[in-house]
Amino acid sequence: MIPPSFIQDLLSRVDIVEVIGRHVSLRKGGANLMGLCPFHGEKSPSFSVSPSKQFYYCFGCGASGNAIGFLTEYLGLGFVEAVQELAQQAGLSVPQEERSPQDRERAQAERQRQIGLSEALARAAEHYRRQLKASPRAIDYLKGRGLTGEIAARFGIGFAPAGWRSLAGVFAHYDDPKLEEAGLVIRHEPEAGETGDGKRYDRFRDRVMFPIRSVQGEVIGFGGRVLDQGEPKYLNSPETPVFSKGRELYGLYEARTAIRQRGHVLVVEGYMDVVALAQSGFGHAVATLGTACTAEHVQKLFRFTDSVVFSFDGDAAGRRAAGRALEAALPHLSDTRSVRFLFLPPEHDPDSYVRALGAEAFERCVEAAVPLSRQLLEQARDGIDMGPAEGRARFLAQARPLWSALPDGALKRQLLREIAGAGGLEAAELAELWQGQPARGPRAGTAGRAAGADDGGPGARPGRGRADRGAMARPMARRAPSSPADHAVRLLLLHSAWWDALSPDDQALLHALPPPHGAVIGWLERLLTNQGPLSWAALEQALAADRESLPDWPPMPATALEDETRFEDLRRVLDGLWVERLADEQRRLIERAAVDPQALQRWREVTRQREALLKALQPVAGG
Ligand code: UTP
Ligand code: MN
Repeated sequence: MIPPSFIQDLLSRVDIVEVIGRHVSLRKGGANLMGLCPFHGEKSPSFSVSPSKQFYYCFGCGASGNAIGFLTEYLGLGFVEAVQELAQQAGLSVPQEERSPQDRERAQAERQRQIGLSEALARAAEHYRRQLKASPRAIDYLKGRGLTGEIAARFGIGFAPAGWRSLAGVFAHYDDPKLEEAGLVIRHEPEAGETGDGKRYDRFRDRVMFPIRSVQGEVIGFGGRVLDQGEPKYLNSPETPVFSKGRELYGLYEARTAIRQRGHVLVVEGYMDVVALAQSGFGHAVATLGTACTAEHVQKLFRFTDSVVFSFDGDAAGRRAAGRALEAALPHLSDTRSVRFLFLPPEHDPDSYVRALGAEAFERCVEAAVPLSRQLLEQARDGIDMGPAEGRARFLAQARPLWSALPDGALKRQLLREIAGAGGLEAAELAELWQGQPARGPRAGTAGRAAGADDGGPGARPGRGRADRGAMARPMARRAPSSPADHAVRLLLLHSAWWDALSPDDQALLHALPPPHGAVIGWLERLLTNQGPLSWAALEQALAADRESLPDWPPMPATALEDETRFEDLRRVLDGLWVERLADEQRRLIERAAVDPQALQRWREVTRQREALLKALQPVAGG
């Protein structure tokens, strides 16, 4: 795609010493320059860069290549990206033959726009860093969390002061639309009747600021944490032309050398986890940005290392997040890559764990992380009683989409044997059952039930039960069609963009709904994480395609498709669900109250909450 002559030209114009010198400190040593090899850990320099050959070579680990090779290896860039990066440094633009001049112009304009945003973000980061030095309160906060100045500097941590327009002191034109586009400034939309184009103010105020950097080291966004109480605890940059949460990982730029040295990357959930781990000697941790781990995240990580260790809090939310991460990793696995899962005790995250129990204890957790193969079995077994044949059949049905997502290879075959063993079948039987028919499709959903009916006796053919068409008929609308749970799930299927507007508590409430609703919610969240909000038409297709892994879900009534619901309607339904949930809790607590005085206390609290909610749900009197 890129003409070879251009690459030659490019390599003759850039100087490898300068390219590598941005990332590795080099000192003269004879004809070459020497430095500490960034690709393996070492104490004395064996990494050499030859200005005459425009080549690098490490006498320690044998890493070698030209300037493009260095960028692909060191920054984890693809070949084309590395060429583009170099071309930009050399002030050249990459010719792309099949592009029209208009396309090229557009791409050029887009790139200019991104450079403008990056500059604004870099200036803001610099400002926040200076402000941190001037704020004893913010410094005390970071010290209180165990951080040294050195680590704060390494991550470029800063502080956004409390004023509404602190950035006006940094940018000559505070009303430059670029600031808004970069997510630094918010414009208050003028109400009808108001004149002017709305007031502007800083997005980040009175927060500790964590700059998020691209793998090239450019600031692309921020996470800001409140110092005291306050909502939200973390405020993140919005999606912008240079920042996408589903693609970026916090700390990757800072971690990349340590990742190579350790031979694996640790994926955690929070900004503070990354920073606190670095403080304790685990410089190879990165975090997703308040979202589930996506396939793109995993793909990116595999450009740096063959081994990924996910760390999750040991609570229900952590297990759910592990499920998403597992699914994101499956398509990118190969026989030389490894993915493992680490679960901390429920009361801990990596930050609190390493502070309370020390680096060695955390190291042991990492060593004890379970391999993906085991986690896959655990996840498929979740909530299933493996005693009866029906349970084992359901386990197989749940394992199948996970197994199918694995690329072909030895691991996939090993796993087939393990899944078969756990499901009480011979490997050959399972292979026949799964490989003989497409993984998806309307019939597949009945396979589990049919196999269960055979009780897996010797010589039983798993397929036999299928002849019984009666057993195959899909029970539709078994539940009362308009329970609040039904209603909530339907509204979310119709307006999937609303999901992100819900609080974590609301989301957890929905996940915890009994089947089939909780499962449909899990399915929906997974899809949204990977693809963003989808129209009902798109979701309907996806639902049909995934029927096998979903519980029976009654079709959407035609009337639901016409209604003009608003977010407030969903809010009301959710409040209704909370009332039900609190009522359950009241029941549970009152049973315990006789023996546990704290239960009574808690019962009073729950009762008060429930009454308040009920009152809010009352229609306005007379209306
Ligand atoms: P947690 O709530 O687990 O917080 O959020 P934490 O990382 O332990 O933070 P500390 O230790 O109290 O400082 C985990 C991650 O979820 C995202 C952030 O990325 C955070 O690091 N998050 C959390 C948000 O984006 N917004 C929030 O309001 C809360
Ligand atoms: Mn924490």
